[in-house]
Amino acid sequence: MLHKTIRKIIALVAMATFLVVAYMITWSYDARSIFHNSDALPPQKEVPMLKMVTSPTGRKTSLLEKSDDYVVPNIVHFTWIGEYLHLQFHHFLSIKSAAIFIRPEQIYLHCDYEPIGSWWKALRKIVNIQVVKIDPPTSIFGHRVKRPEHKSDLIRLNVLEDQGGIFLENDVIVLKPFTPLRKYAFTMGLEYHSNPGRLNNGIIVAKKNATFLNIWRETYRNFTEREWDEHSSIIPYHLQYQFPHLIHVEERSLNYPSGPDRRLIYQDIYDWGDNYAIHLWYDLHALTHSPNDIKSMNTTFGQIARYVYYNTTKLM
Ligand SMILES: *[C@@H]1O[C@H](CO)[C@@H](O)[C@H](O)[C@H]1NC(C)=O
Ligand SMILES: *[C@@H]1O[C@H](CO)[C@@H](O)[C@H](O)[C@H]1NC(C)=O
Ligand SMILES: *[C@@H]1O[C@H](CO)[C@@H](O)[C@H](O)[C@H]1NC(C)=O
Ligand SMILES: *[C@@H]1O[C@H](CO)[C@@H](O)[C@H](O)[C@H]1NC(C)=O
Repeated sequence: MLHKTIRKIIALVAMATFLVVAYMITWSYDARSIFHNSDALPPQKEVPMLKMVTSPTGRKTSLLEKSDDYVVPNIVHFTWIGEYLHLQFHHFLSIKSAAIFIRPEQIYLHCDYEPIGSWWKALRKIVNIQVVKIDPPTSIFGHRVKRPEHKSDLIRLNVLEDQGGIFLENDVIVLKPFTPLRKYAFTMGLEYHSNPGRLNNGIIVAKKNATFLNIWRETYRNFTEREWDEHSSIIPYHLQYQFPHLIHVEERSLNYPSGPDRRLIYQDIYDWGDNYAIHLWYDLHALTHSPNDIKSMNTTFGQIARYVYYNTTKLM
């Protein structure tokens, strides 16, 4: 009788432990997507800007010298992973903005399947995009790579090593030419976040086979599919302190406002005059927009969407 009760208790404790562990594994696996889909963001610590761009000794991290020449070719790379996926209005704006403000020699879309839908058709009428069919990587250094986001992380390293250029995620709206940045062998932008800091890999400006890319790739030896943005954004943030002579870091002109401050994009008006681009963090926003609704949007998003679509920032 007593034995039975004890066995029952042990079984219950074992089951509870299993459930807690399973929950923790699932949560850590999906931590960023939960974070991404939730309006109730965890409280963000304010990160003093100086701390982010100086090393523990107070030295500015970016020691990379500007070249006299343009070492980064004026070509733009996007990726697109997945079958039967509609290109949406904000993707259209992103690729169009790269075309009209960067004026690259070529825009490449590295994809396994071409996008579909009317915005894709409309885009192809106005922008000369070269579609490059690829087999997305399924492993790196023997570690499985399954998520499309992680495949795209690797494709951007591959194409920048092979060709160099400007890599953009398809929710980045370009606002002016990247010309000054093309004099640095390698540039990324700070992403303002709670600690640890991040250099967001949604915008990368790189000379062909920049050494920073080679070093970054090496860190994938301990990649695991369970993580979200460790190798894509946290590791390069740390590498900038180790290799300050190999990277130029833009503080606010590429990835600010960052995700936690996205109300500055979707609710308020942010003075984006100094920005090369605004990263929309669109998966956090997740609403659908159209040429009609952007006319009356009195927000940063409204301004930049009208700027790209209608060539005016003014309300219409
Ligand atoms: C890039 O540089 C590395 C190291 O110098 C070299 O081994 C590799 O072959 C180069 N790759 C390309 C695509 O040029
Ligand atoms: C991989 O190595 C880096 C550098 O040592 C470390 O910061 C990171 O936590 C490691 N990642 C994993 C998933 O073990
Ligand atoms: C748009 O917003 C700005 C400040 O956010 C405000 O000053 C302005 O009056 C607004 N314009 C309209 C037409 O509502
Ligand atoms: C956009 O508007 C400006 C004036 O505000 C004009 O100079 C320019 O030619 C326009 N661009 C296009 C593509 O229509």
